[in-house]
Amino acid sequence: MQDMTLVLFGATGDLAQRKLFPALYNLFLDGKMPDSISIVGLGRYYCSNETFQSKVEKALRLYSRRAVQTSGLQDFLTKFRYFSFNATDRGSYLNLFELIKNRENELGIPENRLFYLSVAPRLVDVITSNLYASGISQTQGWKRIIVEKPFGSDLKSAQQLNDTLSKAFCEKEIYRIDHYLGKPMVQNLETLVLANPVLESLLDHKQIANVQITASETVGVETRADYYDQAGAIRDMVQNHLLQLVMMTALHLPGEVTPKDNGVKKIDIIESFRPILKEEVYVDVVRGQYESGVVLDMPVAGYKEEPGVNTSSMNDTFFAARLYIDNTSWSGVPFYIRTGKRMEKKSSRIVFEFKDKLKESDALPTDGMSPNLFMLEISPNESVSLKLNMKDPSSNRFDPVYINFSNNSEDHPEAYELLLFDAMLGNTAFFAHWKEVELSWKWIQPILEAFQEDMLPLHPYPAGSSGPEAANQLLLSNQFSWW
Ligand code: BG6
Repeated sequence: MQDMTLVLFGATGDLAQRKLFPALYNLFLDGKMPDSISIVGLGRYYCSNETFQSKVEKALRLYSRRAVQTSGLQDFLTKFRYFSFNATDRGSYLNLFELIKNRENELGIPENRLFYLSVAPRLVDVITSNLYASGISQTQGWKRIIVEKPFGSDLKSAQQLNDTLSKAFCEKEIYRIDHYLGKPMVQNLETLVLANPVLESLLDHKQIANVQITASETVGVETRADYYDQAGAIRDMVQNHLLQLVMMTALHLPGEVTPKDNGVKKIDIIESFRPILKEEVYVDVVRGQYESGVVLDMPVAGYKEEPGVNTSSMNDTFFAARLYIDNTSWSGVPFYIRTGKRMEKKSSRIVFEFKDKLKESDALPTDGMSPNLFMLEISPNESVSLKLNMKDPSSNRFDPVYINFSNNSEDHPEAYELLLFDAMLGNTAFFAHWKEVELSWKWIQPILEAFQEDMLPLHPYPAGSSGPEAANQLLLSNQFSWW
């Protein structure tokens, strides 16, 4: 890995404390950092380098997956400098440039610069144009920019944002981060199939009745009402994380794909998504909003009672949909996706339900039998399991048995670690290409409009439940149910 400068916009924000500093520290512990790196944190408020370094240390103590070790800690912290910065002031960029160059000279490192934008989307434009105008992004080495979600709030704003970025960076220098693509189980999908050719023959439209992708959460809107009440589950989780999971699922299973091909193949998949017409959104999509209830034994308020939420808000905190991928592998197989806040439990998973061929034959009594399932639990636990039916000789009934592999070692890297490491190396395989983002917005756009125009009901659901009944009906209409 080449020596570099990492410039972190939004270094005093929540993401930096909870995810980015711990990720950098764990990479450091694993020796997965350049020999020499200058890390410049930017925030609006004044603070000295020493105070900033102690804030970084505090974040590590609170959020690092591995305990902070005394040995090496100072060495890690001294890589950090802080610069108080106003993103809309041209002068700030000139001073920042001085600081970057001074550190490069001091450390004797080349002009390889990685910019991480963990800022409000409205600032991306002004930051990228000033990086260019000030000369900071015109380097003798390489330059890369990592952009956090949300990448736009609809198709048009995403296109505008991309045009802005493209003025200063070319596609292969833009790393659109989606932390679901950094989750180890998602990254392992392809190796799982390559290492188990049997899966290739099992996972396609000939064998699979439907695919279900769930990302449920127990948390509510937390302190993010400002953003979330505008975004809703559809922009916060569906356009990015869930559609990326659909692409990864459909891409890997079946087929031989190397990480290098990922981007191209994912574009093929999303190009094959059957469009949903605005007038027909109500047939395939369910939206919901949580009411008060009990989550993990604690009484919690309804969405409209949450601080900062409009009391007549029509925002979706739950989303479920049925979609089809019209290509040779998946033709006719419904993909069901759902996500929600304040649900019964936290779980992200992919379930393949096999066709129930026994039901159609008289060969065996089907008492107690249910379809075979292949399940991938992505988080918070990681597991792969296969559900089979086994006959209990004493009762003569069939009971489900699970062949299960779980990997819940704490020694697992977190998504941000894997993704930061890739960005530092220059590996774009697990970042979203502009075409994927644009096509996701294109698919979502009629749904956004139908929501906007209230063309479908907003179903209430009690906090702590598995969502509105209408989401069950979505599957029941095809004689399926959620697993
Ligand atoms: C974020 C969303 O992108 O993903 C949050 O903005 C959500 O609202 C989070 O809670 C879920 O991520 P994870 O990794 O906890 O499933």
